[in-house]
Amino acid sequence: MSSSTRRACVIGYPAGHSRSPVLHGYWIDRYGLDGDYLIEEIEPERFEAFVTNLSENGYVGANVTMPHKDAAFRISEPDDDARAIGAANTLWLDGGVLRATNTDGDGYVGSLDAAAPRWDDWVKNSVILGAGGASRSLVHALLRRGVSRIYVVNRTIEKAEAIREIFGYDVVPTAWSDLPNVLEEAELLVNATPLGMHGQPNLKVDLSPLAKHAIVSDIVYVPLKTPLLANADALGLVTSDGLEMLLHQAVRGFELWFGMRPEVTAEQYDLMAIDIPKS
Ligand code: ATR
Repeated sequence: MSSSTRRACVIGYPAGHSRSPVLHGYWIDRYGLDGDYLIEEIEPERFEAFVTNLSENGYVGANVTMPHKDAAFRISEPDDDARAIGAANTLWLDGGVLRATNTDGDGYVGSLDAAAPRWDDWVKNSVILGAGGASRSLVHALLRRGVSRIYVVNRTIEKAEAIREIFGYDVVPTAWSDLPNVLEEAELLVNATPLGMHGQPNLKVDLSPLAKHAIVSDIVYVPLKTPLLANADALGLVTSDGLEMLLHQAVRGFELWFGMRPEVTAEQYDLMAIDIPKS
C-alpha cells in the first residue's frame, strides 16, 4: 500500500462482525485497484470527530452503520435520497465537503432489476411489511421507479402514517389484519421488518392471495432463505433475497470512493454467503 492508495471503511459500534470488507475487497481485487476497505469501530462519542477528520484519518469515504446513521445525516451535506429517508449510510469527500447519501433503496431496486428485469413495466401495487428506516428507503425507491400504490403494513399504524406524510397519498397505511386483502391487489411483497431473522419471531404470511407472477422479497439475509422466501419458492413465485440487496446497495458507495461502477457477480454472492446460514 502506498500514499496514493484510496481507502474507505465501515464505521460502526460494534463493527467487528461486518462483512463489508469482503464485499468491497472483492471488487478492489477484481478490478485491480490501488484501494483498501477497513473496519473502524468508533464509539458514539468519537463519531463526529472521526468523520469530520475523515481525510486526516486516511479515508476518502465510509459506510456508516448502527448506531451512527442519524448522526452521519446531521453532520454532513445529505443528498436528496438521504434527505427523503432522514438517515445516511454512505459518506464521501467531495473537495473538502463531507457529503452523504442513503443507498438502501437503490440497492433494493438493483436487486429487483437482477431478479426480475423490467419489473417496473408491470408492478403497479406493492406491499411493504414494516415502517422503520428500511421501509422508508424502499418506499422512496419504489415510487421513483413508478410503482403507483404502496401499502405499508405496520403494527404501529402511526409510523406508516408518518411515511404517508412524507411521500404522499400513494402510500396507504395498512393494518396487519388487512394484509390478505391488499395482497390480492399486489404484484410485489417485501418484508422490511426483522421478522424471520434468526433469533426473531417467524413471519407468518399466507401468500396464496398473491398473483402467480408476483415477486416476493425479504431484506433479512440471515438466513439466506427466510421462511417467507421458502414459501414463495414453493408457490413458484419470483424471489429476491436480502443478500442481493446488500450487495447492490454497496455499488454506489464503491463508485463514489473508487471512481468506477462495479458489477455484482454470482461469485461475489457465493463469497459473502459462505458463513451465512442457508435456512
Ligand atoms: P429499521 O429502521 O432498520 O427498518 P426499525 O425502525 O426497528 O428498523 O423497524 C422495524 C420494523 O419492524 C417496524 O416497522 C416494527 O414495527 P413497529 O413500528 O410496530 O415497532 C416492525 N417489527 C419489529 N418487530 C415486530 C414484531 N414482532 N411484530 C410486528 N412488527 C414488528
